[in-house]
Amino acid sequence: MAKKRRSSGKKIGHDPFADMDMSWIEEEPSPKPADKEPESTQVAPESIPPAVPATAPASPSQPEATFHFPDDFKWGVATAAHQVEGDNTNNDWWAWEQEEGHIQDSHQSKKACNWWGNAEADFDRAAKLDLNAMRLSVEWSRIEPLPGEFDEAALARYAEMLQGLRARAIEPMVTLHHFTNPLWLVDEGGWENPETVDRFARFARRVVEALGEYCDLWCTINEPNVYGYLGYVDGVWPPGKSDQKTAFLVMRHMLLAHADAYREIHDVQPSARVGLAHNMRILDPATPNSQLDRRAASVADRAFNQAILTALDKGRWVLPLGFGPAWRLRGTLDWIGLNYYTRELVAFDRTQRESLYTRRLHAPDAEMLDGDYGEFYPHGLFRCIKRLDRLGLPIYVTENGIPDDDDDQRPRYLLTHLHEMWHAIQMCYPVKGYYHWTLVDNFEWAEGWSLRFGLFSLSLKNKSRKPRQSAQLYADIIQTNAITPQIIETYAPELRAELLPG
Ligand code: BGC
Repeated sequence: MAKKRRSSGKKIGHDPFADMDMSWIEEEPSPKPADKEPESTQVAPESIPPAVPATAPASPSQPEATFHFPDDFKWGVATAAHQVEGDNTNNDWWAWEQEEGHIQDSHQSKKACNWWGNAEADFDRAAKLDLNAMRLSVEWSRIEPLPGEFDEAALARYAEMLQGLRARAIEPMVTLHHFTNPLWLVDEGGWENPETVDRFARFARRVVEALGEYCDLWCTINEPNVYGYLGYVDGVWPPGKSDQKTAFLVMRHMLLAHADAYREIHDVQPSARVGLAHNMRILDPATPNSQLDRRAASVADRAFNQAILTALDKGRWVLPLGFGPAWRLRGTLDWIGLNYYTRELVAFDRTQRESLYTRRLHAPDAEMLDGDYGEFYPHGLFRCIKRLDRLGLPIYVTENGIPDDDDDQRPRYLLTHLHEMWHAIQMCYPVKGYYHWTLVDNFEWAEGWSLRFGLFSLSLKNKSRKPRQSAQLYADIIQTNAITPQIIETYAPELRAELLPG
C-alpha cells in the first residue's frame, strides 16, 4: 500500500565526500526554477488474458491516442543470479546472509526462486507475456569456484538456460557481474585489489567463449555506484565497510574491469554488443531558488550519476571518483544501460559536514513507493534518457520497477514510465529496449523478501507464482506494442486525463 512522505529511499550513501574540496562542482548543473515473509493476497489466478485491441476507444467522448513503440522494440524483464537462482553458497552475499543483523527479518536467499533447478518454468511465464527479451546474470562463484578453475557443468547449465530462452524467442542479455563475488576473490581483497581487474576480464573471456553461441548482448557490470556506496560507504552490503576513499577505488577498479572485459569480449566475439548498467537517480534541489540547494544537488549528482558517465564517455576521472586521464575507458561502450527507479531532493545543510553539507528529502506532496523506496517520479525516466543521449549510444532501460506487493501502484507506475519512455523515443532518443524489474518476486538484498518487485508474486511457502494485474497490463502493452486508450481505461482510468488530455 502506498504511503505519503516516508523518510528515506534506498540508501545510496551518506556523504562520501566530506573531506573534499568542493570547487570541482561545475558539471551538470541542477535544474533551475522553471526548468516476515508476507504472502501476497491480492493476486489473480495464473493465466494471462488475451490482448485488448489496440484501436478501441475508451468511450466515444474520450480523446483517442495510441502511443506506438518501434516495431523492433525489445520488451523484457531483468533479473540477477543471486536473487533468483538459490543455493549460491560460494559467494560473499551467502556468507553475509548467515550473519545476524545484515538482512531484514533475518531473511536468507536459500532456494530463492529455484532458477538453478528450473528457470525454465519462469521462462514459460515470460513467453506467455510475449516478452522478446530477458536480462539475466551469471554467477561468477559457480563458474569459477576456485581461481582459474572453471566449472564446465555450471557453464553447461547456463548454456541450457540461454538455449531455453532462444527456443522461446526471447533474446538474452547476460550480465557478468551483479553485486556478488566468489569467496576466493573476497579473500584476495575483492574489488579493492587491482588484480581483480584482470581476474574479471579473464572470467568474462571464459564466459563468452562458452556462451557466445547463444548470446551476443553483454552487460559487463551492474551499477558500480550502488555497489560502491552500499558496500563501502553505508556498509549495509558486504563487505560492510565505511570508507569513502575505498568506495571510489572500488568503483574505479570496476570501470577498468569493464573496459578490459569489453576488449576481451570483442576479441572472442567481434559481433558482440557490450555495455554497462548505470543506476541514475534524479537529485533535484529541495528549493530550486536557493543557490546553496542547487549547489548541494550538483555535488550529489556529480558524485552519484555523472562522474561514472564522464569517465566512460570522455576517458577522464573527475572528482570525487578520481582525477586525471582514464584512457583505457574510452570507446568501451556499444550501448549504455539505464537503471532508473526514483528521485530525491537535496538540501544544503551546514550541520551535515559528514554528508558534504547535503541532506536528502522528498517533496512534501510526493507519492512515495512502498518500503521506503523513494518518490514516484515517472518524468525522471525521460530526464535520464535525455541526459544519456549525449553519449551518442543506443540506450537500453536495463531496469525500472517498483516494490508493490498489493500491486496498487504498479499499473500506474508502468503506464506513466512507459509513456515517458515513449515520449523520449518520439524525441528520437535512441531507446532500443525496456527490461522491467522484475518477473517474479526475488531476494531483494538487505531487504530480504520484504520488497516485492515481481510482475508475478512468489509464495515463500510453496514457491508457487501468481500473476499480479500488472503482468496482464505489461502483456497487453507488449502484444499491441502500444499504450492504447483501452489499456489506460482498463488498468488505470485515473490516468486518462494525464495521458490523454482532451
Ligand atoms: C539492482 C537490483 C535490485 C533493484 C531493486 C537495482 O538497483 O540492480 O539488483 O533488486 O535495484 O532494488
